[in-house]
Amino acid sequence: MQHVAQANSRKADSPAILRAQAVKKAYQMGEAPLVILKHIDLTLREGEFVAIEGRSGSGKSTLLHILCGLDSADSGGLEYRGKKIRRQPAGTIVSNAV
Ligand SMILES: Nc1ncnc2c1ncn2[C@@H]1O[C@H](COP(=O)(O)OP(=O)(O)O)[C@@H](O)[C@H]1O
Ligand SMILES: [Mg+2]
Repeated sequence: MQHVAQANSRKADSPAILRAQAVKKAYQMGEAPLVILKHIDLTLREGEFVAIEGRSGSGKSTLLHILCGLDSADSGGLEYRGKKIRRQPAGTIVSNAV
């Protein structure tokens, strides 16, 4: 992925909504792991407008799936409003993820 463009630096002091730290994700392709996300650090703050850019296949959807709890990272941390979250089992309605 080329980069995560974070616009509007005036929001830098706003409370963090979602924070990803050192997120890594790889898919096993035959014998070799295909590393899609090597090390993603991302903080989304209230009032920010954020775009994720990158060529097709660079890992944008993989990252979004992890950020919204549809998929799990291999390592790294994810926080929603200061609380650690992780992927929920299929069929779970998430109201208060911990
Ligand atoms: N379930 C999966 N198993 C194996 N490889 C996958 C899987 N999902 C995505 N990939 C691969 O991971 C890479 C990133 O995919 P994706 O996140 O969909 O990229 P983008 O959304 O940026 O186009 C691609 O090479 C894709 O083929
Ligand atoms: Mg995609």
